[in-house]
Amino acid sequence: MMLKVDNVCVSYGKAKALKGVSIEVRQGEAVAVIGSNGSGKTTLLNAIVNVVNKSGRVSFLDKDITNTKTYKIMRMGMAYLPDRRTVFADLSVYDNLIIAAFSKIKSGVQGYFKNESKEIFEMFPNLKDKLYLKAGLLSGGEQQMLSLAQLLLRKPRFIMLDEPSAGLSPKLVKQLFDIIVFMKESGFTVLVVEQNVNKTVKVADRVYVLKNGVITDTGNSEDFQDELRIKRAYFGG
Ligand SMILES: Nc1ncnc2c1ncn2[C@@H]1O[C@H](COP(=O)(O)OP(=O)(O)OP(=O)(O)O)[C@@H](O)[C@H]1O
Ligand SMILES: [Mg+2]
Repeated sequence: MMLKVDNVCVSYGKAKALKGVSIEVRQGEAVAVIGSNGSGKTTLLNAIVNVVNKSGRVSFLDKDITNTKTYKIMRMGMAYLPDRRTVFADLSVYDNLIIAAFSKIKSGVQGYFKNESKEIFEMFPNLKDKLYLKAGLLSGGEQQMLSLAQLLLRKPRFIMLDEPSAGLSPKLVKQLFDIIVFMKESGFTVLVVEQNVNKTVKVADRVYVLKNGVITDTGNSEDFQDELRIKRAYFGG
């Protein structure tokens, strides 16, 4: 099992953000957690990487990581795209990519970049044209794509994405979901939390619906093409 979240609860003061959430992600799967604003999606990812206090258990690659330090979890091969951009605004796109990949570079930086950048530029053609521009001058959507490129260069085993389509133009949203499909086809395991229900359900293998800190429905994504089922899970009744 890639990831197992077992009966996780998180409270902020008196407010309960997660009330006993259990989910599983198997190797090679793309799993989606869909839920509206405030349902607890970001809290769930933060609980997995141990940046908020929680009860319950989390295991990654069959090892208990409930109390493991965040950087150690990352070292085990987990990557996390948070709901804000992670680029260094004053550095060029090129430098941002090199920094992200640094631990993977064994000898020369230029040789490494020549080899590894082909695939990245196929996925993110915008970045190729703007390689020597300061990352802070990219559009919000382009910065989001750069964050994703950074994450892929680290060659993680498991990728968690927090609302990657938020704030993107329709064209970039389409590109983003194509990239998620590409990740899956390349053998990455993906957990994505999203509000964009229709698009997310199309690229995921399995879906969980999170509402007010509780998983209210789960199943294969085919079963979630049915809008009524999503509405019921979202709004109850
Ligand atoms: N640091 C915090 N302190 C207090 N309450 C918080 C904190 N972070 C989140 N919450 C509350 O916990 C609940 C879940 O928040 P969370 O950010 O996990 O939701 P979300 O599903 O990611 O929402 P969104 O789609 O808007 O990003 C919300 O009611 C939110 O107000
Ligand atoms: Mg969130």
